[in-house]
Amino acid sequence: MLDALMQKKIHAAADLLRAGETVAFPTETVYGLGADASNPVAIEKIFTIKGRPADHPLIVHIADVTQLELYVEKIPRSVWRLSARFWPGPLTLILPRRSDVPNQVTGGQDTVGVRVPDHPVATSLLKAFGRGIAAPSANPFGRVSPTTAEHVRAGLGSGVGMILDGGPCRVGVESTILSLDEKSAVLLRPGGISVAEIEETLGRHVLPGYSREPRLRSPGSLPSHYAPVTPLEVHPNATLWHRVFQIISHGGKVAVLNLGKTGEKLECGSVNAVSMPLTAFEYGQALYSTLHHLDREGFDRILLEAPPDLPEWLAVNDRIRRASQTSSLEREAAQ
Ligand code: TXA
Ligand code: MG
Repeated sequence: MLDALMQKKIHAAADLLRAGETVAFPTETVYGLGADASNPVAIEKIFTIKGRPADHPLIVHIADVTQLELYVEKIPRSVWRLSARFWPGPLTLILPRRSDVPNQVTGGQDTVGVRVPDHPVATSLLKAFGRGIAAPSANPFGRVSPTTAEHVRAGLGSGVGMILDGGPCRVGVESTILSLDEKSAVLLRPGGISVAEIEETLGRHVLPGYSREPRLRSPGSLPSHYAPVTPLEVHPNATLWHRVFQIISHGGKVAVLNLGKTGEKLECGSVNAVSMPLTAFEYGQALYSTLHHLDREGFDRILLEAPPDLPEWLAVNDRIRRASQTSSLEREAAQ
């Protein structure tokens, strides 16, 4: 149950959305920067605040599955099976759009992304507002997604109409994105719901639709996503410490995220080691907040011990790869 003060704030936030303003709100994955999905002028504000290119489509958040028909033209039958099992929850479906969905939301594509978030504040806001809220993650374009209200304030500051503080996000990595029609299901972004769970529900294979290659771009998977400002490198355990010593011997200051007992910290000269959880879910929960924190500490490099290359680590490995690729692409560009 939300307390009276939070309910008051949520009603004020719904009024702001009706007036065409933006509201940052918590979801179970990351914080979103929301605006009325039917108001193109309000949507434009999201792009301005984030510094995001205008052709990037946004996810429309809805209160429950009954609002799907407000945005989707022909709902593929498999949607009902997926929504029954995973909504509310961290699954975004890319579906054929209705023609009256603003182009600012869909990036001019003939599809629209929709999801029902699983967070009491988001649900309550969506119900109070009564329609869909278009929202990307509430971070400056290309940077690490926010998992606390403080991250939103630090990243986007006073540009946002209002920030609803619902505490730290439970999942910590963005939703799984699945493109769906009558014939196929394509994974555009791994996330909080696993491919195995989706395949089990659909009774068919999910095709890979995102790229592990930094230079090949598919919708929703730009390599420049999810990067801290501090350059980040990923190394297997066998070479991690060798790389650490290489950097400190050149006078650099390094943060090391190794896999181990959670919460263990070691500060030794110019090396600061933080132990990250050994399970993929807990690692995902901690990843962005750890990166936000380390980004403010003035390190020359953040080095990560590569997590296992196993299916349950798909989303975490995807985000880590993108963060490190951005750093190396930026370094290349700067050279
Ligand atoms: O967990 C999440 O999904 C969070 C919370 C706030 O819901 N949102 C989020 O939004 O991560 P954003 O905008 O940062 O990432 C959504 C991705 C974008 O990369 C976008 O390209 C893709 O979804 N996307 C949205 N609509 C699409 C469409 N019609 N076709 C293909 N990709 C789409
Ligand atoms: Mg994002």
